[in-house]
Amino acid sequence: MPFILYGYMHILKMRSNPFLPLGNFNYRCYSLLIAGLLFSIIPLGAKENTKRIVSLSGSLTEIIYSLGAQNLLVGTDTTSYFPEQANQLPKVGYQRSLSLEGILSLKPDLVLGTEEAGPPETLDRLKKLGIKVLIHDSKPGLQSTLDRIQLIGETIGETKVAQEIIDRIHKNVITLQKNTPWKIKPKVLMVFSRGRNMIVVAGKETSGSAMIELAGAENYISEFSGFKPLTPEILLKNKMDVILLTDMSLKALGGKKEFWKLPGFQAIPESKRPNIITMDDLLLLGFSSRLDSALEELQIKIKKSSK
Ligand code: HEM
Repeated sequence: MPFILYGYMHILKMRSNPFLPLGNFNYRCYSLLIAGLLFSIIPLGAKENTKRIVSLSGSLTEIIYSLGAQNLLVGTDTTSYFPEQANQLPKVGYQRSLSLEGILSLKPDLVLGTEEAGPPETLDRLKKLGIKVLIHDSKPGLQSTLDRIQLIGETIGETKVAQEIIDRIHKNVITLQKNTPWKIKPKVLMVFSRGRNMIVVAGKETSGSAMIELAGAENYISEFSGFKPLTPEILLKNKMDVILLTDMSLKALGGKKEFWKLPGFQAIPESKRPNIITMDDLLLLGFSSRLDSALEELQIKIKKSSK
């Protein structure tokens, strides 16, 4: 690598030297050609051996874009829908049900995923075929988000930009937490759905709960951990101030009118219904480079909607 760099610097020096005799014309063409080749095989800032990344997570895709390294991405999973340009990349399936053939067809030299990535057999096959697979933890929270950004920055050789993003998020999140727009913590119930047969609520230690707490509010659910199916009994204790859904969840349930027909919610008289707020799925649960804007949006929406 140092030799390539030295050669490259030398070529650049020669190219920019206006005093080179005309007889060096061929040399100049040759230099330009080599320089062009080097540019095309070593993306600026990327580690030499990482040229084709497949990302298996919307959060990681977002981080790669925020680091300005999107030129290394050759494919993503279907949760990678932000930023808009990511939709133009080939898709390899949903992060939990990935297509081995889809990934292989993109000839990646690095597959980046989180603990959500699966099925495990697909990841094992990739490793056995000699493809580098890096799995990041998907723990929700401020520190784990910052760690993820740093690790990806190191993996793709963009540590400086990564540090700038880390500093920004850290500063903004601390400020948002110091200035919560309420005195008494509002109680927020998060409902998540992918259709009538999959309606869950966010218990402790979930991404939903972590966002509610980072925003300085309180998770309505304190009795259990993880996402658990919605049952009418869950709603029997003291009243909640706000119901939080992701955009896709509300859509999957058929909108607000249908939501109030769900078992348990049905029993709440119209005058006593808490307000429903929604946020984009990836923004709310992604724990990525937009963590600070996500928290700001969540605080504003909770504040506006608490009765
Ligand atoms: C960052 C947060 C998330 C995003 C952006 C996201 C996005 C998506 C998308 C785009 C799909 C459609 C997949 C496709 O048609 O290819 C999907 C399906 C699904 N998601 Fe998520 N999701 C997120 C978190 C979750 C969580 C926390 C759960 C479980 C509690 C979950 C459970 C499911 C299930 C069960 C499906 C249906 C899978 C299938 O049809 O194979 N998702 N999600």
